[in-house]
Amino acid sequence: MYLKALVLLLLALKSYCVQNFTLEQVLILSRHNVRTPLSKNLADFTPKHWPAWKEKSGYLTAKGALLEGYMGEYLALWLNKQGLLQEKCPKEDIFFVYANTAQRTLASAKAFVNKGFPGCEVKIHHTSEPKDPIFNPVVHNTSALFKLEAIEQMKMLLKSLHLNGSYVDLEEILNYKQSEYCLTEHKCNLLTDTNKIFVNVGVKPNLEGPLKISKSVIDSFIMENYEGFPKNEVAWGQLNNKEQWNLVLDLSKGYHSVIFNTTLIARDLAKPLLTYMRDLILDKKYRISFLMGHDANIYTVLKSLDFKPYSLKGQYEMTPAGGKLVFQKWKDQNSGICYLKVEYVYQCTNQMREGRRLSMDNPPEFTSLQLEGCKTDDSGFCLWDDFVALLNSLVD
Ligand SMILES: *[C@@H]1O[C@H](CO)[C@@H](O)[C@H](O)[C@H]1NC(C)=O
Ligand SMILES: *[C@@H]1O[C@H](CO)[C@@H](O)[C@H](O)[C@H]1NC(C)=O
Ligand SMILES: *[C@@H]1O[C@H](CO)[C@@H](O)[C@H](O)[C@H]1NC(C)=O
Ligand SMILES: *[C@@H]1O[C@H](CO)[C@@H](O)[C@H](O)[C@H]1NC(C)=O
Repeated sequence: MYLKALVLLLLALKSYCVQNFTLEQVLILSRHNVRTPLSKNLADFTPKHWPAWKEKSGYLTAKGALLEGYMGEYLALWLNKQGLLQEKCPKEDIFFVYANTAQRTLASAKAFVNKGFPGCEVKIHHTSEPKDPIFNPVVHNTSALFKLEAIEQMKMLLKSLHLNGSYVDLEEILNYKQSEYCLTEHKCNLLTDTNKIFVNVGVKPNLEGPLKISKSVIDSFIMENYEGFPKNEVAWGQLNNKEQWNLVLDLSKGYHSVIFNTTLIARDLAKPLLTYMRDLILDKKYRISFLMGHDANIYTVLKSLDFKPYSLKGQYEMTPAGGKLVFQKWKDQNSGICYLKVEYVYQCTNQMREGRRLSMDNPPEFTSLQLEGCKTDDSGFCLWDDFVALLNSLVD
């Protein structure tokens, strides 16, 4: 008798405490997938031969399209499992897709929807301008003070980096002293050559010098690795373990930190995108919005919203190719209160290199992110209203 009463009491307590969360809305901000190297003068920085790519510079590769298709398949399944997307072919008032006009972003969006929603006609919205201002990470603020402050902050960040070991390693990998650049420009020392800072209205904040050179060649190593080039061709076989990769990757992280990782610059660069995101979520109220852009968009949105530092297991990059920030609005049906959860959804380096299809048994990684201004519980939820207030404070 007592036992039965106790069991009943426990059951009642359980149903009282259990939160009944349903997923109400999702915004996905994605980086395009694997592309060929952007820099056209890589050959200047090493006497070695770079691997040959089939596609034009800066284009999505066939491997990139394959991997993005896997993400499309998986996330369509995931959205369905969460109960957010029951329709086989979602109409655009439910599922809104917007991509930057670059080939690699349009082709990535296409790969995602073609595999995620096969046989459906999902429209990929984009502008007809060569550079869509929403995704273009350029300086908008025309005041002299902004320029002064931005340069000052970039200088401080540059000074704070500890990259000696990384530079030494990279010089060796490249055989930099024998490079065309060293021989003709007489700039042969990554450690001591100067980095110049550029902040100008209408263009991306930029650097010239060893950090930029390093970032460009490392970007190529990363893409070679994802693409699946033989191990002895990826960085000429000289990056053989996690420690070596991480050491040189510090250069790439340092570069992106200097140009994107200050609140002043990030908020200026990302304002059009943040405005657009707020519009999609709060005004247009699409159930699912999907935006396909670049690492610059992810870096600047992360910094603008003031996310806490994070690390991505199984990845060398801070913003992996094909990686997605997934903003989720969850509703507790018992209390009626809405919550935000943000996860970084991405494929590990090995998953990408091996090119295995994603499935519930071979899922991408989901890493919970936290906002400084929105206190999260153990499950990664913070109050939706706090997020809305934050978004509104950043846009006009
Ligand atoms: C959770 O909420 C949904 C929608 O209100 C309801 O249909 C379902 O029965 C609830 N489940 C539990 C376990 O309370
Ligand atoms: C431009 O930058 C200055 C200096 O940081 C700032 O005071 C001003 O509000 C900014 N203007 C706009 C339109 O954001
Ligand atoms: C890094 O290298 C520079 C240039 O050679 C040198 O001035 C500096 O002291 C080094 N820093 C450390 C921490 O070794
Ligand atoms: C930005 O800078 C912070 C330190 O201020 C650092 O913890 C974080 O990892 C950086 N973020 C990125 C994406 O590099």
